[in-house]
Amino acid sequence: MRRIAISVAASTMTLSLAGCGMLNATGDSASASPSKGNDVTVGLLLPEKANTRYDKFDYPIIKSQVAELTKNQGKVDYKNANADASQQASQMQEMIDEKADIILLDAVDSHGIADEVKKAKDAGIPVIAYDRLAEGPIDAYISFDNELVGEVQGRTLLEALGSGADTSDKIVMVNGSPTDPNAKQFKEGALSELNGKVTIAKQYDTKDWKPENAQAEMAQAIAEIGKGNIAGVYAANDGMAGGVIKALKAAGVTSLPPITGQDAELDAVQRIVSGEQYMSVYKSYPDEAQAAAQMAVAKIQGKDIAFDALTQDKVDSPTQKDIPSKLVQVSALTKKNIEGTVIADGIYTVDDICAPKYKAACSAIGLK
Ligand code: GAL
Repeated sequence: MRRIAISVAASTMTLSLAGCGMLNATGDSASASPSKGNDVTVGLLLPEKANTRYDKFDYPIIKSQVAELTKNQGKVDYKNANADASQQASQMQEMIDEKADIILLDAVDSHGIADEVKKAKDAGIPVIAYDRLAEGPIDAYISFDNELVGEVQGRTLLEALGSGADTSDKIVMVNGSPTDPNAKQFKEGALSELNGKVTIAKQYDTKDWKPENAQAEMAQAIAEIGKGNIAGVYAANDGMAGGVIKALKAAGVTSLPPITGQDAELDAVQRIVSGEQYMSVYKSYPDEAQAAAQMAVAKIQGKDIAFDALTQDKVDSPTQKDIPSKLVQVSALTKKNIEGTVIADGIYTVDDICAPKYKAACSAIGLK
């Protein structure tokens, strides 16, 4: 929560600097280092494809923002690692060999990639950690407030359990990948809400965030706890919530307990409409991806004032202190606010969500 206050202060400051005429139109600083023009190459390394956000939102938004900032001369060299850490290391090595101007890195394994980050640094290529905080000498970090994501998930799950919830309520926790530092923050944020209020009967860290792994974990939890004794499921993201639901249905559960998620995936929003999933976390991909592109271009072009204004937060990684950062706000997505979130931001249309199968459920919640 504290970090949000800093973010708000930072954006206010950007505005007031511009308002006072302290920034010129492009944000150039007098002290800018010799810089490149518009013919920049931004390397973009994204972690996986099981989650649709990367190909559907992150990449295209970054690409169009880089084009806009460089009069269509800049390009984005995009590679996706398919959840394979060693493949990502080779992709990053290729970008170093090809002398990308900067690398935006969303790490599969934030610890394991540190050697490549160091190699980029030695080759004079700045690295901005995107969404997940990579270790090694990075220049900046842009993400959502990941602890807040977990708090929002935990709080909304408690809300779903209602005022009668107590420690006799058994919760299963299906957390994300142990190589993703966000997963740890989501878990900590959620536990800060859940601890002492319910019982965490089983918890799992799920390899590679894979829905099928989440499904196997949930099947095991059901076998141990009993299908009628599970009050709710904390699933760290929507893909895994899908796996959890499959396991519950396969075990013959007809009335599903409240299940959390994250990412506002289209099929999860549809499950929220139909009542199979209780909530997701809406993270504005345009806010994160556009800011990442702005940081990258400002850094390459030596626009130091603009870069500093974009990175007013500070975070620590296990290898580095006070990393210039930007942490973007998130909100809970439930039946009640589909219109004000994903639809208002143009992520989906009502038609996308209210496909024939969901028409009746959509009208029942006033979504037309
Ligand atoms: C996290 C990311 C989430 C989700 C998840 C699975 O690091 O913040 O939005 O995509 O990985 O890939």
